[in-house]
Amino acid sequence: MIPILRTVAELRALSGGWKARNEVVGVVPTMGALHDGHLSLARRARAECDRVITTIFVNPKQFNNPEDLKKYPRSEDADAALLATVPVDAIFAPPVEEVYPDGFITTVSMGGVAQPLEGHMRPGHFDGVATVVTKLFGMSLADRGYFGHKDWQQLQVVLRLVRDLNIPVQVVGCETIREPDGLAMSSRNVRLTAEGRAKAPILYAAITRAAEDIRAGHADRMAIREAAETMRKAGFERVEYIELRDAETLMPSDDPRRPRRMLAAAWIDGVRLIDNIPV
Ligand code: PAJ
Repeated sequence: MIPILRTVAELRALSGGWKARNEVVGVVPTMGALHDGHLSLARRARAECDRVITTIFVNPKQFNNPEDLKKYPRSEDADAALLATVPVDAIFAPPVEEVYPDGFITTVSMGGVAQPLEGHMRPGHFDGVATVVTKLFGMSLADRGYFGHKDWQQLQVVLRLVRDLNIPVQVVGCETIREPDGLAMSSRNVRLTAEGRAKAPILYAAITRAAEDIRAGHADRMAIREAAETMRKAGFERVEYIELRDAETLMPSDDPRRPRRMLAAAWIDGVRLIDNIPV
């Protein structure tokens, strides 16, 4: 059985022992309800580090919608069984009071890359992410942290965070893992009905088509409008955004010489899906 730690003191003692032996420690932060996307990060960490810690913590500070927090899927036993297949060395799954004890008042607040898109649609979200990631790095004493491209803006936020605050963690970005029909794996996918699940892959198909058209010389705006139209026709209730942005700053970009990323968020079946691809 993989040890499941509940306190920072236990985590520090374990990780501190590894570090004293000069072992390289990798951390994979998650909110649980694990799927193959999460496991791909843990496997990458396993291959690159001497020791791997997966954290499971549904961070209340990054939920701007209390209903979303309440409905967030939780499945610790199944998660532990999946992590045993990697295997990781330890699971850190603290209660909320261990992370945010009475009197907690500090927030990591970010402008720039944290402001547009998800930052705009979900006020306070990235401050919550930046705060908990800073804490998880400090608690785990990790040398490396693994994050998925699935949450591309989050990855750019974390890269900026460690640079700005001189946090000695190497941030590693990992490819998005998809279902065979193209839908990006997500803990929220379990909330889709069969009908919604059948339509959900159209998000990826539509942005893939738009990216191809843009590479072939079509006007950016036109290609994006067609993608939004395709999704609405397929039954998406709401297309929140489809944007072509500078891959690092997430600012609007019409400079094809810089790496660019197409990012999208849309609702189907009452579930909010996000995805992104290189252009
Ligand atoms: P969570 O949504 O559980 O995701 C944990 C990590 O898994 C993130 O780095 C995310 O990008 C990655 N991930 C999710 N789906 C993926 C997929 N299909 N392919 C590849 N990687 C995928 O993101 C969070 O939790 C939280 O914001 C967290 C960083 C843990 C801070 O609370």
